[in-house]
Amino acid sequence: MEPNQTPVKKQRILSGIQPTGTPTLGNYIGAMRNWKLLEDEYECLYMVADLHTITVRQEPAKFRQNAMQMLGLLLASGLDPKKSTLFFQSHVHQHAELAWLLNCYTYMGEMNRMTQFKDKSAKHADNINCGLFTYPVLMAGDILLYQANLVPVGKDQMQHLEICRDIAQRVNGVYGNVFTVPEGYYSKVGARVMSLQEPTRKMSKSEAEDSFISVLDTPDVIRRKYRRAVTDSEACIRFDVENQPGVSNLLSIICALTSEDMEKLVASFEGKGYGDLKAAVTDVTIETLAPIQAEFTRVMKDKKYMEEVYREGAQRAGYLAERTLQKFMKKIGYVAK
Ligand code: TYM
Repeated sequence: MEPNQTPVKKQRILSGIQPTGTPTLGNYIGAMRNWKLLEDEYECLYMVADLHTITVRQEPAKFRQNAMQMLGLLLASGLDPKKSTLFFQSHVHQHAELAWLLNCYTYMGEMNRMTQFKDKSAKHADNINCGLFTYPVLMAGDILLYQANLVPVGKDQMQHLEICRDIAQRVNGVYGNVFTVPEGYYSKVGARVMSLQEPTRKMSKSEAEDSFISVLDTPDVIRRKYRRAVTDSEACIRFDVENQPGVSNLLSIICALTSEDMEKLVASFEGKGYGDLKAAVTDVTIETLAPIQAEFTRVMKDKKYMEEVYREGAQRAGYLAERTLQKFMKKIGYVAK
């Protein structure tokens, strides 16, 4: 750097993933893969969103295991803890505190409109708790605590990101400049990977086993699931989400994993059948996941290293979070500590 040149401050990124079991290929393509790609250009904070997870009842031992496994998978997907801050949301108490404050700046009507609340309360009718209802407020706080500029997520999180922006703007409108208003960052392809069985619905680990690929699926399982994937009877390979959702989904997965251009990819299948398409998507999926799975097995054996990563991560995240929390509390009018 030249002597008088000030370093350019990197923009900041925050994102999270819930430890609700092994992530799917949808989580990987829509989120985790981008996190790695953004690691050099931005100052990144990535968290295992474990506070969100108890909106649905969890078995304690399994929950703990899933949380560690998720951290292991983030490391295995290539994230470098020297570059990115990796942490458990529950280790940074400011998340829960900011969520309370922001609850008082959010309207019932806004939460009532959230489609994910409607879906999840239909699915867990015996446990429609208040946490499930105010979940987007906790998520807004996650982002605003770090003054994040950018939030890489899949399309299913768009509505939550919009409400986060609304809350930030509302608070800023009352108190002046408290929060950075964040932007969403979505992949061009793969921001919504669809179910293999019902390709008009998103791929989700809470659906039937054959409808999603898990990032820890063995090659045999991956082969079987794609073989059973729903296509159609049109017998041609086109990217047409409306009329050929199943085929288009498989094409999108290939494009996302190979960075290939869609037009070129479709052209390469001219005269070929669905069997060829399924073979191709199987191959790239296995190729992508194999090194992640190998690294996952290795890193999960190194508990000491993982502890170091999440402890250091929480320390760094906690420092940034506290600054924002104090700033906001002062603006509201709380007596300083
Ligand atoms: P979660 O754990 O459901 O999903 C993690 C990430 O994976 C993306 N995703 C998908 N992308 C493409 N296709 C799919 N089929 C698919 N399924 C899931 C999600 O969009 C998400 O980016 N509320 C969040 C976690 C969270 C968070 C945050 C995210 C908590 N606080 C702050 C960003 C910022 C969630 O439940 O994601």
